Amino acid sequence: MNNTINRIWRLKKRPSGMVQRENFEWTEEPVAGIEEGQILVRNLYLSFDPTQRGWMAGPSYLPAIELGEVVRSIAVGQVVESRNPYFKPGDLVSGLLGWQDYCLLNKGSESALTKVSTKFPIPLSMSVLGITGLTAYFGMLVVGEIKPGDRVVVSGAAGATGSIAAQIAKLKGGRVVGIAGGSQKCGWLRDEIELDGIVDYKSENVGPRINELLPEGVTLFFDNVGGKTLDTVLAHLSLNARVVLCGAISEYNSAQTQHGLTNYMNLIIQRAKMQGFIILDYANRFQEASDELLDWVKEGKIKYQIDLAEGLENAPETLQRLFSGLNRGKQLLKIAEAPLDGETSTI
Ligand SMILES: NC(=O)c1ccc[n+]([C@@H]2O[C@H](COP(=O)([O-])OP(=O)(O)OC[C@H]3O[C@@H](n4cnc5c(N)ncnc54)[C@H](OP(=O)(O)O)[C@@H]3O)[C@@H](O)[C@H]2O)c1
Repeated sequence: MNNTINRIWRLKKRPSGMVQRENFEWTEEPVAGIEEGQILVRNLYLSFDPTQRGWMAGPSYLPAIELGEVVRSIAVGQVVESRNPYFKPGDLVSGLLGWQDYCLLNKGSESALTKVSTKFPIPLSMSVLGITGLTAYFGMLVVGEIKPGDRVVVSGAAGATGSIAAQIAKLKGGRVVGIAGGSQKCGWLRDEIELDGIVDYKSENVGPRINELLPEGVTLFFDNVGGKTLDTVLAHLSLNARVVLCGAISEYNSAQTQHGLTNYMNLIIQRAKMQGFIILDYANRFQEASDELLDWVKEGKIKYQIDLAEGLENAPETLQRLFSGLNRGKQLLKIAEAPLDGETSTI
């Protein structure tokens, strides 16, 4: 890879409030020659996930991204050089490859890479069959224990995780109400996803609308938003309800203390259960889950949207889209075409 330049976004300053371009530094560095055991990957698509904002702010379920470190993100790339027996040039791989053109993996770090099938489009592998689809799957089926007849509310319902969670709930016989922002997203949930009820939190009063759509109360709430949305839905739980805490995106950019819950006593009154989860804990079951998700996609039982931005230089603004709600489904950034033969499918 003589004379090849790696364009990199590094974390410069921890964000306070909305993440900004000034939080990052763009550098251009030569790609080093590879040594015994190493693998060089050309990144093709970067995944944008709200949790990245948390990784930039400080330690949580993973260590914080250090200042000066390459911005951590899931990516799919293609192996372009390998002196490692487990990978060969042309292989498609997924891992925490970061906001950069090339990622050099050292001997012993091959377990951090997963081979990606070339049988279907990469964006599908990074959405329904990737972390967001898997989160919806385990959150709804295992943590939420969805069952026929459940009266379900999903917040962030038009998003990558929420839209799959809502469709799984319908598949399993739930009556499903989705909360989302704006007429376009709500129209998609009504006309394409055919949810039983929609609440546009930007133009409607969430509490009264939930009451109208599910007058007997909510038996299962899958929450991606947290804050006031969580608090409001807690007031509408019915007996033995389950609340799945998947995410709290309304709080991620908050520079102040997180929103306190005023309706939590309803958990006691309704003998309800509230449980958070992190998808990484289900890693040993990812294959069985993505096989089932793929079947549902092929059978037309699960629909999905991909929001594909382009150009590594646009990474900071692409991340912002998740927090401004501009994204329509799974947010990806395409940064290169596969340089070697081997990528067979495109969306
Ligand atoms: N627990 C886990 O292991 C795990 C794994 C993956 C994801 N998650 C969580 O799942 C949630 C969704 O993630 P995703 O990747 O699928 O993103 P996404 O839902 O595709 O995109 C984020 C959406 O959040 C909504 N949003 C942003 N700011 C908001 C605010 N202040 N109030 C209400 N809604 C807001 C926007 O939709 P609207 O336009 O409708 O407002 C936006 O489109 C996040 O909370 C994420 O942290 C958890």
